Amino acid sequence: MDNLTDKNRVRVYATGACEGLPELLSALAGHPEIELVGSNERVHDAAPTLTGGHLQAVMHATRGSSLPTDDLAAIREHTAAPVILLVAGASSRLLEEALEADLADVVPLPQLPQNVVFAIKKAAHAGRRVPGRPGRKGRVVTVFSPKGGTGKTVTATNLAAACAKFEGRKTLLLDLDLQFGDAAIMMGVEPEKTIYDLVVAPGELDSEKLAGYTTKHACGLSVLPAPLRPEDAELVTEAKLGRLLEVARESFDVIVVDTSPFFHGPMLATLDRTDELLLLCSLDVPTLKNLRLALQTLDLLSFPKSRVKIVLNRSNSKVGMKPNEVEGALGMKVRFEVPSDRAVPLAVNRGNPVVLAEESADVSRAIKSMAKEMFRAPKEEAAGKKRRLIPALSKA
Ligand SMILES: Nc1ncnc2c1ncn2[C@@H]1O[C@H](COP(=O)(O)OP(=O)(O)OP(=O)(O)O)[C@@H](O)[C@H]1O
Ligand SMILES: [Mg+2]
Repeated sequence: MDNLTDKNRVRVYATGACEGLPELLSALAGHPEIELVGSNERVHDAAPTLTGGHLQAVMHATRGSSLPTDDLAAIREHTAAPVILLVAGASSRLLEEALEADLADVVPLPQLPQNVVFAIKKAAHAGRRVPGRPGRKGRVVTVFSPKGGTGKTVTATNLAAACAKFEGRKTLLLDLDLQFGDAAIMMGVEPEKTIYDLVVAPGELDSEKLAGYTTKHACGLSVLPAPLRPEDAELVTEAKLGRLLEVARESFDVIVVDTSPFFHGPMLATLDRTDELLLLCSLDVPTLKNLRLALQTLDLLSFPKSRVKIVLNRSNSKVGMKPNEVEGALGMKVRFEVPSDRAVPLAVNRGNPVVLAEESADVSRAIKSMAKEMFRAPKEEAAGKKRRLIPALSKA
């Protein structure tokens, strides 16, 4: 149901401080269309209220002459609700910076309360992702290939890092290669806890608890690594994983899942919740054969074909096969091509994803465009369907 046409008022919270804010807050407190959930000058102290996905908008007030980036990032840590910046004495520098920021609106104070109400309603309306359900609804992007060594982990780690660093999305990298996962090592993080600790911990899982088990990478990405010992994998059951993904969707914009080359129980639970399945392929015949089988299995599982995207890794390898032959064999378009690059194994061995280590390498550009494409509006996506993101390199 539409939140704005039913009798519900827009739930909004205020952080920060500036001249004119107290007057505005008292006007909003009595407004019939607004439910002012509360306010706290310090974003840090507001964290418990900001979390949980129940807010439809957040107003942050600032009196500075430049964008309060730390405060805005702190808000983003806790909520995906649209943020309206309220500024007393806005400087041109701040307005310029605000254009680039992830803000729903910038409103100079003092202001007629009715104008602020309009800005709040507009922001809440645009920020509504799932009708009737305010808050975040993260996308699950699963990276799979029925063949080992095709580059799943390289793709998953780099894509996740690109989403966090270059798209500014709150991103979780989930390692579902439960027995021999190496996503954490490729990210160069040394986790204290893994998915094993999470699933054996007592009590109900919620966003806050999940946050306690993830490890943060400097690029902003949260990582939930695979169990340290292969024998612990079996404790990660379908039911546990299903719940984990539901909770993760509420607190992250995107969840990138690295996998093993098998359709095991937890993988099936993940497929049930997968919005986008990146099927990794390479220019070799055994991989293609297995990929065809995997496509048939996905069909049997009634996994919608529209959610499958073929990614051709090492697309420029000179191995006597062309990308269009892959398309012919699979009966599907190759959506993304990722070239082979020496920078990749170098980055892997240093534990620093290539998109971060060598931002302008062709392979990094390809993965960054992949991340960007994931967040394009569906209309643009349709228009971009026929376009290759990055032409394959001619050199091997
Ligand atoms: N585009 C690329 N260019 C160069 N090297 C690559 C590329 N993609 C992957 N590799 C190399 O291939 C190796 C295997 O990749 P990766 O570990 O990502 O495969 P995987 O599919 O996750 O394997 P597994 O099934 O064992 O988990 C990596 O260590 C990396 O060095
Ligand atoms: Mg792997």
